[in-house]
Amino acid sequence: MSDLSPQSAGPFILVVDDEAGIRQLCCDVLRRSGFAVEAAADAAVALRRIEAGLSGQGAPVDLVLTDIKMKPVDGLRFLEALRDLSPGLRVVLMTGYPTMETAVRGMQLGARDYITKPFTPVELRALVKEALSGWRPSAPSAEGAPSGEVETLGGLVACSASMRGLLATIRRLAATEASVLITGESGTGKELVARAIHDLSRRASGAFVPVNCSALVDSLMESELFGHLKGAFTGASSRKAGLFQFADKGTLFLDEIGDLALSLQPKLLRVLQEGEIKPVGEVRSVPVDVRILAATHQDLEAGIGSGVFRQDLFYRLNVFHLRIPPLLERRDDILPIARTLLADLGQRMGRGGPMEVSQEGQRALVGHDWPGNVRELKNVLTRAATLASGEVLSEADLALGGGGRSLLASPGGYLYEGLTLDEVERRHILHHLEKFEGNRSHTARVLGINRTTLWKKLSRYGIEDDLDEPEEG
Ligand SMILES: Nc1ncnc2c1ncn2[C@@H]1O[C@H](COP(=O)(O)OP(=O)(O)OP(=O)(O)O)[C@@H](O)[C@H]1O
Ligand SMILES: [Mg+2]
Repeated sequence: MSDLSPQSAGPFILVVDDEAGIRQLCCDVLRRSGFAVEAAADAAVALRRIEAGLSGQGAPVDLVLTDIKMKPVDGLRFLEALRDLSPGLRVVLMTGYPTMETAVRGMQLGARDYITKPFTPVELRALVKEALSGWRPSAPSAEGAPSGEVETLGGLVACSASMRGLLATIRRLAATEASVLITGESGTGKELVARAIHDLSRRASGAFVPVNCSALVDSLMESELFGHLKGAFTGASSRKAGLFQFADKGTLFLDEIGDLALSLQPKLLRVLQEGEIKPVGEVRSVPVDVRILAATHQDLEAGIGSGVFRQDLFYRLNVFHLRIPPLLERRDDILPIARTLLADLGQRMGRGGPMEVSQEGQRALVGHDWPGNVRELKNVLTRAATLASGEVLSEADLALGGGGRSLLASPGGYLYEGLTLDEVERRHILHHLEKFEGNRSHTARVLGINRTTLWKKLSRYGIEDDLDEPEEG
């Protein structure tokens, strides 16, 4: 994935051209580069969209990429109107007529640059990046709370600028029907974000249906998703509705979409394109009204490269991309989230009030690298709150050790000095199993191996009996 996360904090580009082919091309190229992009087929539509951004009714437009020769209003008149509406707005022109006069006139009207059609994706990307150089997100005051304040949305607690930006984007996306691809490391809150989008949307009264694409057997997945007729296959003893039907008028959350079987990908793509499903064994298609949100911790673009994920499906799912940063990149969120979790724990454990964390404990929480992100934070606090004797959790209660991402050095020297490779592997696996409370799916994922490989290693090291069979999370 691109390292930009424009929908949360990056620049927003509006492509204006009366030729559908050019609009599509520009949008594809720019989206692939990680930008948030929308298209308008004429100047009037574009002006309305820019106005909406200015009045906070949509994402503010940061760059306009516009054709010069357009109907009914041509590009130069559009530029004049833009100059009135939003004088500082960055504009880049596209022209099929490389006459100096038009380009010069455009620059006089405030355009930053121009590109001559036909152009290559590389040229377009370079020009847009150049035009956006020096761009900074507008002050959060327009949308989020002032810096340092804690905001909440659904179950999400946010204090860092990046997370509060993300909450603002969630509110905007909730008002749309766009498919959203949510990416982030394990435990960063992808499912919570999906729920927040659903809960704020006009579909809130419909169902939110989460599906874990990696938990279902490939051969059953099709009937799980789309349903089946009686007798459609051996074992189909009665007619069954699929998850798409359950999610009708609501939201289907396709979790771990990177694990969706290649054979099912064209079928999902068809639903997204046509808005109808075909239950297994059925000849006719049935219309469904479902919004799709998808999540993955994987790099889908790498999956496209290696042939395990279809590019056309990726584009359909990735209309908007929300990247949730790892907790390590937003340490400002650690204590506010911890406070909320402790208040929750205090209540569930029947204590008089929330538990506190000592000064040293707070420093340890903020200094820890949280490879398991918020889920790990929750586990650490739950364990500490359960075992602690008093009302204040000390650094020792938290027992964070040095379990960071890069803490191979210890006060005594190299941490694994004198250990065999097998022993290092055994400890590494145990450490993660404990962290994820025995959840093998999460452990395998963080270790970058599949569950079968993990299972083999566990039996090899004789640790499979120490742990309960995990619940899938
Ligand atoms: N910003 C947040 N504020 C409060 N709680 C959070 C926040 N982010 C995540 N959590 C909590 O952390 C836990 C993990 O979140 P969630 O299940 O949404 O993560 P995920 O990204 O879907 O993880 P995975 O990839 O492992 O499925 C949940 O208990 C969730 O409630
Ligand atoms: Mg999840």
